[in-house]
Amino acid sequence: MTTTNFQPRVFSGVQPTGNLHLGNYLGAIQKFVALQNDYECIYCVVDLHAITVAQDPLELKRTIREVAAAFIAAGVDPAKNIIFNQSQVSAHAELAWVLGCTARIGWLNRMTQFKEKAGKHTEQVSVGLYTYPVLMAADILAYKATHVPVGEDQKQHLELARDIAQKFNNDFAASIAANGHGEAFFPQPEPLIQGAATRVMSLRDGSKKMSKSDPSDASRINLTDDADTIAAKVRKAKTDPEPLPLEIAGLEGRPEADNLVGIYAALAGVPKERVLAEFGGGQFSGFKNALVDVAVDKLGPIGGEMKRLVTEPDAIDAILKSGAERADAIARPILGAVKDIVGFVR
Ligand code: AMP
Ligand code: TRP
Repeated sequence: MTTTNFQPRVFSGVQPTGNLHLGNYLGAIQKFVALQNDYECIYCVVDLHAITVAQDPLELKRTIREVAAAFIAAGVDPAKNIIFNQSQVSAHAELAWVLGCTARIGWLNRMTQFKEKAGKHTEQVSVGLYTYPVLMAADILAYKATHVPVGEDQKQHLELARDIAQKFNNDFAASIAANGHGEAFFPQPEPLIQGAATRVMSLRDGSKKMSKSDPSDASRINLTDDADTIAAKVRKAKTDPEPLPLEIAGLEGRPEADNLVGIYAALAGVPKERVLAEFGGGQFSGFKNALVDVAVDKLGPIGGEMKRLVTEPDAIDAILKSGAERADAIARPILGAVKDIVGFVR
């Protein structure tokens, strides 16, 4: 079964957990902007996901608005697309319960992100952190979304969402047909993980993902960093002593060089081959100067606009509220159909 019988629809989410960075931009937000021309798009600030680990309530309110501001500042049009925060649409939590009864414990036990986040403390972390991927499946399936732009780190969660959709369709096949929904109720959502920077690495350590929670601020470029900070972080970024290679194969075993070339390519919108054709054979210093230029060019205006937008929280709240109403209008009938299929009385 594929997504072919379903109306194409894009859904993605970003957690309001502070320090939005270049990885979030290149892995996700930049793609949100590109997709809005061709698809109906729903972009969600996933605050229910954020509280799977402890959050300061006042800081959470601030970061929910900041993520919405980042979407808008990057170029997502809130009139054409739906921008909202997850907790305002109850279908997410309700569907997550139903799908939690479809998903199997064995499936969740394989999730590498849970293992990384829980570390040695598997008995001490929240139940929500464990069932996080089920909520993510509910986010997507509540809209019967067919395409999900995300970074590489979310690939396994997307596969789980597909498995859950498939099992629901199989478990309830007779009821789905009897309720007039044909052979399959949920689509198999496809991950959109494309381009030169689907996994942006730390600027300090090419073996670690660039992350909001890295204690070293120099490890990431934050979307709100000013030009001088961006320049300083790029110039300090870890490299190796060799010149840049002329071909992609020469990046093998050189994670820091590979990362910087990928970042340049994704920011400039060119393939990595083109970057090497231009800078291969040269020293890192010249390449880094060019990288600073393209990074400041691209991120400077976004950071500036984010900072301006967050000074008007009422305007952001109005966008989130209207987005939530529009999202609810799509999700409510789908959730209603799920209730009928499962056999609830309503
Ligand atoms: P999160 O901040 O975990 O909610 O992530 C929001 C989006 O950014 C998801 O689509 C992630 O896959 C993506 N993302 C996060 N970190 C990176 C990274 N280092 N490189 C590429 N994409 C990333
Ligand atoms: N788990 C995603 C992340 O951490 C965020 C997310 C939640 C999401 N729900 C989603 C992404 C639905 C895509 C679709 O990056």
